[in-house]
Amino acid sequence: MKIFPIACESLGTRSFCHLVMTESVNILVDPSVSLGPKRFGLKPHPTEIAASWISRQTIMEISQLADVIIQTHYHGDHFTLNSPRKYEFSNKEIFRALYNPEVTIIAKDYEKNINYRQQQRAKHLWKNKKISVSKADNNHYEFGSTQITFSPAVPHGVQEASVFVVEVMIKEGDRSYIFTSDVCGPSSKEATDFIITNLPDIVAVDGIPFYISKTEEYIEEAFRNLSKIVDEIREIYIDHHFLRSLEWENKLQENLGRKLPAFSNLRNQKPFLLEAQRRQLHNDDPTREDFYNSFYVDDYSITYFRELLQKNGFHHYWKKLKEDVKEENAKLKNI
Ligand SMILES: [Fe+2]
Ligand SMILES: [Fe+2]
Repeated sequence: MKIFPIACESLGTRSFCHLVMTESVNILVDPSVSLGPKRFGLKPHPTEIAASWISRQTIMEISQLADVIIQTHYHGDHFTLNSPRKYEFSNKEIFRALYNPEVTIIAKDYEKNINYRQQQRAKHLWKNKKISVSKADNNHYEFGSTQITFSPAVPHGVQEASVFVVEVMIKEGDRSYIFTSDVCGPSSKEATDFIITNLPDIVAVDGIPFYISKTEEYIEEAFRNLSKIVDEIREIYIDHHFLRSLEWENKLQENLGRKLPAFSNLRNQKPFLLEAQRRQLHNDDPTREDFYNSFYVDDYSITYFRELLQKNGFHHYWKKLKEDVKEENAKLKNI
């Protein structure tokens, strides 16, 4: 089993998208990308938008090799919406290209344990007659030698009390991996228990969004749960909510007494946090307001995005990722 992070906070955007490749199946998890529309009172810096753009291009390219798409819930940073969202580079065509009849889609149930807003979004997937979607919640699927097991619906956590997600375990031979999706810590016992009960070899967890003031009363509980997981699992990566602040490593040291690697470290990439550095990015390289009216329709923007990514040395990551995914696919499929 190989895991390829495609988009996440340690790669400069809001996302937790990755590809899991086994001998029998290529699984694309939560294929979307997003940016915090306002942070520190500021819009995303063009460097962040460039990272979102290249992440979207990479998701679309890699999706062509996917046999299965897993959708853990319907927030825009995980689910590609069927409407134009400029920081997410999504629209109807992108939606159709991604969630197509050729791919097996296993997604969070849209009828149970779901709030109205998530359900309205989920219907674009579930009510589409051209594609078939299977329920993830508490279900088990097998693809050749690969087993995919979902948790029952577990709380998204402190950030949105009425949202539920599914955690997923992928197992091939004696190797297993759990992706928690958005469990904010984990902030709940249910989300923690799914990990502790299954004891996978590898875990990717989102962590608590400690930078939001309303999370204060939940922080201790979230670290207690995270600590239980860290005690049991040897290989654990933290990302997403937890990496929206430059303080993330200090917070781990303070609360767990040790550091954990970010998801990008799984591919030996040092994390590059962009939203957390938004103030600095705007100070160092100010942006004209009219940029925000045109970047998503303007061909010139693509040249500008490439320049920004090259200037920062970030473009190498996705270039190498695509090469490695193609090479691994050829090896696994004996092409
Ligand atoms: Fe979410
Ligand atoms: Fe998320």
